[in-house]
Amino acid sequence: MSNREGKDKLNIRELIKAKGIPGAIKELMLNSQVWRSFFRHGLEDTPKTRAQAVISNSFLHLHPAKVKRHALLFKFTWCMGGITFFTFLTLTITGVFLMFYYHPNVRDAYWDMKGLEYHVPFGLLLRNLHRWGAHLMVITVWFHMFRVFMTGSYKPPREFNWGIGVVLLVFTLLLSFTGYLLPWDQLGFWAVTVGTNMARATPFIGHEGPFGEMLGITAYNDVRFALLGGSMVGGNALLRAYIWHCIGLPLIVSAFLIVHFWRIRKDGGISGKL
Ligand code: HEM
Repeated sequence: MSNREGKDKLNIRELIKAKGIPGAIKELMLNSQVWRSFFRHGLEDTPKTRAQAVISNSFLHLHPAKVKRHALLFKFTWCMGGITFFTFLTLTITGVFLMFYYHPNVRDAYWDMKGLEYHVPFGLLLRNLHRWGAHLMVITVWFHMFRVFMTGSYKPPREFNWGIGVVLLVFTLLLSFTGYLLPWDQLGFWAVTVGTNMARATPFIGHEGPFGEMLGITAYNDVRFALLGGSMVGGNALLRAYIWHCIGLPLIVSAFLIVHFWRIRKDGGISGKL
């Protein structure tokens, strides 16, 4: 037996004598390397350990260790930003499940959605969670923006985050718009036909828009052509809408959300009382 092992055995014996078996087990567990690598703070209920518990946990540290009391009041934020984020997460999860059943081509898309409603267990629930969730996100993001405006939270130092918010609003609407085409039904088809026709008139990048002609923009190289992957709504447009909807736009929104939340912390948390 090495010297060190002997010393440890002695300590354990002393510990059991002093604290009893349950007390000794607790003491050993709390001082073990495994426990201390998971929990890097004591168990006492003091303001310091409470703060350490939040800061040293990878999930909890997303929240600030301290928040102003009024920021927790429902009547101040209506929780609209939080609900918008929650809806985004729900849409991401239900969206991934929908991808298991959906083929982005003209032959299958419509029937995949019908099949989901009639043949897949809970398919109708899944589809409706995604569809109504999308409507909810658009509504709550507007209410969130309205709240931010009414509480004057767009003023310095939060003007940059207001700008990030505007980008988030635009991309939320684009997510809705691209998702509209995917069921390949009459509603989506004509909505996207009208929407992309409007894109013809975009300044600089639309062939019927201001300065378009001057810059050599034609019906075959303008923004509408890029969105549709051709001159009319068809298979290419469906595939492009699918890729933007499932990959491109969610990634962009996630990146801007990270900046949005980080900015809230850097600007000193939620704005003060009015
Ligand atoms: C995907 C869309 C968005 C999400 C998920 C989101 C999320 C949030 C959350 C969770 C907060 C914390 C306070 C609260 O819940 O109200 C917040 C604050 C804020 N948001 Fe958004 N937001 C979004 C879009 C927007 C838009 C469209 C704007 C404005 C154009 C905006 C501007 C702001 C500002 C300025 C703050 C700080 C407010 C304060 O300090 O009181 N956000 N956002």
